[in-house]
Amino acid sequence: MDLGLKGKAVIVTGAGSNIGRAITLGFAREGASITLADIDEQQAQAVAALALAAGAAAAETVRCDVTKLDEVQAMFARTVARCGTVDVLVNNVGWDELKFFTQTTPEFWQKIIQVNFVGVLNCTYTALGIMAPKQQGAIVSISSDASRQGEPREAVYGAMKAGVNSFMKTIAKENGRNGIRCNVVCPGVTIPEESEAVGVNSMWVNKDSMFTADQLAQIAKALPLKKVGRPEDVAGAVLFLASNTVAGHVTGQVLSVSGGYSMIG
Ligand SMILES: NC(=O)c1ccc[n+]([C@@H]2O[C@H](COP(=O)([O-])OP(=O)(O)OC[C@H]3O[C@@H](n4cnc5c(N)ncnc54)[C@H](O)[C@@H]3O)[C@@H](O)[C@H]2O)c1
Repeated sequence: MDLGLKGKAVIVTGAGSNIGRAITLGFAREGASITLADIDEQQAQAVAALALAAGAAAAETVRCDVTKLDEVQAMFARTVARCGTVDVLVNNVGWDELKFFTQTTPEFWQKIIQVNFVGVLNCTYTALGIMAPKQQGAIVSISSDASRQGEPREAVYGAMKAGVNSFMKTIAKENGRNGIRCNVVCPGVTIPEESEAVGVNSMWVNKDSMFTADQLAQIAKALPLKKVGRPEDVAGAVLFLASNTVAGHVTGQVLSVSGGYSMIG
């Protein structure tokens, strides 16, 4: 099915690793013109080469720390210079380390707040300034089922992701009149399948520090679909929500892609 994304100007943050990589390659197969924004330029460049081979109209890597508004604005300006606009923003950057709240520090909270929440504010703020005058755009933010469930060892991360869910609903209400749709995808545990699919900054660079093989098997067993997620599972939902052809009347929604871990509504 043609999702109508061919030639669209798409920004994917954190495009170099795991879920961002799969999202980028998904847009590439649809023929989009993609900006890969990441602090890990080398890893993003490797994904850009794969994106071009997969059919992307363009794949430009821009080194950008989403927690810094000036870097975000410069990254968006590069996309506008190349494409004349930004049609789709995917707020994918996120980071966590699994620790009980009492074992964390204020410095750790600040990093979680900046990367998972302030980065989304910076990118969304900049995107709206470009999309609103054009009266069109789609924003998809990657949250987490930890935002919906309350997840031990993810207290501040889960709270920031819940903030993303709420923020995106308000932005959806404020900007529907401008033709801008805003939605959220909440992955559950989603593991990279190959070591080349993760960058040096990835949460998954040492998979065992996140979950041991035994823990992953336990998680899979507890899920209704009996398997943990693949990055491609999340990418499919993002492409759907980004497409005006198939999701043109969908806004303000939070969609779990987690094998049935949470069932809300
Ligand atoms: N993988 C999971 O199990 C899972 C589960 C729920 C939610 N999520 C969410 O999905 C998203 C992607 O997760 P992932 O597993 O692919 O992550 P990852 O750690 O593998 O990759 C994150 C990417 O973002 C980049 N990055 C980190 N900080 C950045 C910054 N300040 N500015 C720009 N780039 C930065 C990294 O270099 C890396 O390429 C995140 O928002 C995460 O919170 C992941």
